Amino acid sequence: MSTNTIDDKRKVTTRRLVEMKQRGEKISMLTAYDYSSAKIIDGAGIDVILVGDSASNVMAGNVTTLPITLDQMIYHAKSVMKGTKRALVVVDLPFGSYQGNSKEALASAIRIMKESHAEAVKLEGGAEIKESVERILSAGIPVMGHLGLTPQSINKFGTYNVRAREKEEADKLIADAKLLEELGCFAIVLEKIPAELAEKVASELTIPIIGIGAGGGTDGQVLVMHDMLGINQGFSPRFLRRYADLATIMHDAVGRYVEDVKSGDFPSPDESY
Ligand code: KIV
Repeated sequence: MSTNTIDDKRKVTTRRLVEMKQRGEKISMLTAYDYSSAKIIDGAGIDVILVGDSASNVMAGNVTTLPITLDQMIYHAKSVMKGTKRALVVVDLPFGSYQGNSKEALASAIRIMKESHAEAVKLEGGAEIKESVERILSAGIPVMGHLGLTPQSINKFGTYNVRAREKEEADKLIADAKLLEELGCFAIVLEKIPAELAEKVASELTIPIIGIGAGGGTDGQVLVMHDMLGINQGFSPRFLRRYADLATIMHDAVGRYVEDVKSGDFPSPDESY
């Protein structure tokens, strides 16, 4: 069994993430959507907890991230904040809460910060959402960008395949990443793009680049917790490393409980008053 080697108990801030990049320390990031999971992964030393709109898939069972609402994201974020002491907590602005209307974007971000007490928000996109990013930043709210495969645009892409393989899309991604840095974003997630491109972006920007399916040349990695713990078994992309098989462990444990209840073995006299 591995032991936790993280003994730095200091609170992670956006500034500390930049310092980590400067000294070449990789940043670890995972999703969480509830109090109990957040408490476990925070205690295990995760640097950043993302209250991702992937909650729409893994918590609510939706096929895409599009249906989740701002109220639902705030509910998840509040629960995560109660379980988190050390990690920086970043919350996704859900589909429809920021695109095309920067005033609405700011109102959405303010609701997240005020009601959940989270520390930053994440938005998908580059030049298209420039005004929203600017307006949110102008209110003192830290913004994390998200480029490459942006699941809120799945209906435009039509597939979850690797993005930016072609030069035109790769050039736009680099320009968008530089724009987000210029605007003042504190970090950017790059999802499912060629490793070489992600490494180039990480080397040209001073803010941390966190990859998912973007190779080992980024400043950190993010995975969906339910995927890496093997709770969500129906999703096995090449970039996913499974660290546990919790679905099997839970299935077996519940199976034994069902048997014990049916046979009358549970509860025993020792487990009764
Ligand atoms: O919602 C999410 O989980 C994400 C990660 C995949 C980066 O945005």
